[in-house]
Amino acid sequence: MSNYHIKHLEEYFQIYRKSVRDPENFWEEVAEEHFMWRKKWDKVLSWDFTKPEIKWFEGAKLNITENCIDRHLPTHGNKTAIIFEPNDPEEKEQYITFKDLHERVCKMANVLKDQGVKKGDRVCIYLPMIPELAVSVLACARIGAIHSVVFAGFSSSALATRINDSNCKMVITSDGSYRGSKTIDLKGIVDESLEKCPCVETVLVAKRINSEINMTQNRDKWLQPLLDAANDYCPAEIMDSEDPLFILYTSGSTGMPKGMVHSTGGYMVYTAYTFKNVFQYKDEDIYWCTADIGWITGHSYILYGPLANGATTLMFEGVPSYPDFGRFWQIVEKYKVNQFYTAPTAIRALAKENLEYVEKYDLSSLKVMGSVGEPINEEAWHWYNINVGKKKSPIVDTWWQTETGGIMISPIPYATPTIPTYASLPLPGIQPALMDENGQEIKGNQVDGRLCIKFPWPSIARTIWGNHQRYKDTYFSAFENKYFTGDGALRDEVGYYRITGRVDDVIIVSGHNLGTAPIEDAVNEHPAVAESAIVGFPHDVKGNALYGYVILKETGETRNQDNLRKEINQIITEHIGPIAKLDKIQFTSGLPKTRSGKIMRRILRKIASKDTGNLGDTSTLLNPEVVKEIMDNAL
Ligand code: WTA
Repeated sequence: MSNYHIKHLEEYFQIYRKSVRDPENFWEEVAEEHFMWRKKWDKVLSWDFTKPEIKWFEGAKLNITENCIDRHLPTHGNKTAIIFEPNDPEEKEQYITFKDLHERVCKMANVLKDQGVKKGDRVCIYLPMIPELAVSVLACARIGAIHSVVFAGFSSSALATRINDSNCKMVITSDGSYRGSKTIDLKGIVDESLEKCPCVETVLVAKRINSEINMTQNRDKWLQPLLDAANDYCPAEIMDSEDPLFILYTSGSTGMPKGMVHSTGGYMVYTAYTFKNVFQYKDEDIYWCTADIGWITGHSYILYGPLANGATTLMFEGVPSYPDFGRFWQIVEKYKVNQFYTAPTAIRALAKENLEYVEKYDLSSLKVMGSVGEPINEEAWHWYNINVGKKKSPIVDTWWQTETGGIMISPIPYATPTIPTYASLPLPGIQPALMDENGQEIKGNQVDGRLCIKFPWPSIARTIWGNHQRYKDTYFSAFENKYFTGDGALRDEVGYYRITGRVDDVIIVSGHNLGTAPIEDAVNEHPAVAESAIVGFPHDVKGNALYGYVILKETGETRNQDNLRKEINQIITEHIGPIAKLDKIQFTSGLPKTRSGKIMRRILRKIASKDTGNLGDTSTLLNPEVVKEIMDNAL
């Protein structure tokens, strides 16, 4: 029996048991059978969660792009690797075969080298969802440069923070981007960031919207002429299994974003394995994940996982609402998409619109439908199941994180029976544990607790760039000898997991993780603001929205509150990006605080959620009277 492709439930249980009994042996078999190694490993795994230090396939040599591209050339050279569907449905799509991809990645890799990028250097990629993004990511991997993709919706100061944190010497961007009916001046945003980034020597600029942009002499270069002049073969740099492949930033509960570092061999094995099983990908299938490559979902399940399996992966530049709310379904019909992977927030937004937008299109090609990024509520699950999948296409509710690199808990379609809102069972090799507040593992079923993982899996992030201590503190200190996810979960009577949400100060808005601290820092930049506290509250499309409680400075000046709200949101947009804007801003004279001065967010959360029946004990507060004021004026 091959461990690689699970086809029914019995097989899942068998493979799962084997994977837990002897994880080293299990992953060794997977790694041996399905990948191209320049040299085999000396040791499958060494780990110590107290340091923490985790190494997979130590001593092995490989290049991930040889696995994602070169390896497929003899048998699948003319197969489409990437389909590019532009923002504007009138613009022609592109089919990029594995052969084309090889050539484009090699050329780009040679351009990077010509511009002085070397193995281990960090390259920031700030691009829209155009083929150059995929090509740039893979070109970095080709030469062993560490890519740091920053989602092109982040503001200039968020971009600058990320560039500086990992000391990137190059930025790859475009003149601008299309987003529905709008264009965005990406290069302008980069220019603004770079005023604060002395480490950047070169900016490569792809042409997308043909706008007039400023080019700084000796720093900015148009990409196309360099590509035209580049050689179309570039040998792959031979990497150690544990060499970093990329950095990807995720929000934390404190100010600075965390640059999660993923390494090469384990990440490749795990993303490829989970892609194959969670999507039941077969050779002729067309697979589409609607995420942006700026997030982990795009890294693992638009690029690396699919390409390592020789899959055809679709990249969509636009948004679900342009030119109308039928766009996703029109694309599914156009390409006869077989596997479709999206986020609950998109499903909820589309479910609000007229059903005709879905019914107009032939969606019969769909075999598997995925969900990721936040809990999918029951209503959205049913809408997706009935109207998109016509009840014949299983939904895989996939739970995982930037830090985990790949999907951790998910049904295997056509094997695991699905239940709405349940991510269901751990994938092979994943050993979840639920913990109580005293640090004890809660055994048995029908229990809930904090979700931890007891044993390493190949794609776990290895560190936080430049801050190993923070990595240890955030993930390995809450519970002894366990990786702590920051999520709460319950395990039902048959052992299915349901993720109940974050238990820390991270709020997931439209599937994007937002730490409260950086938003509060931004709000506090407003000259009229003395202090602020931000919490999440339920929102029917975004999952959660942000509610800000703001104390103004006593300047005696009377300001128009609506103008202040606009100004505060403007500052947030500049510091972080429009995704972090506050839906509601309540001005207050104080915030409920404990005697040690800590804001009692629990109370603020309840008020924001209009759940004020039981506020718990407020008598220990320093200022209990403020609670009434806040409740009376709640929005
Ligand atoms: C949440 C995205 C419930 C969770 C891949 C996690 C989910 C955080 C699910 C990571 C799901 C992700 N059900 N919650 N299926 N998937 N989450 O790093 O809180 O952007 O910790 O990775 O999203 O978000 P991240």
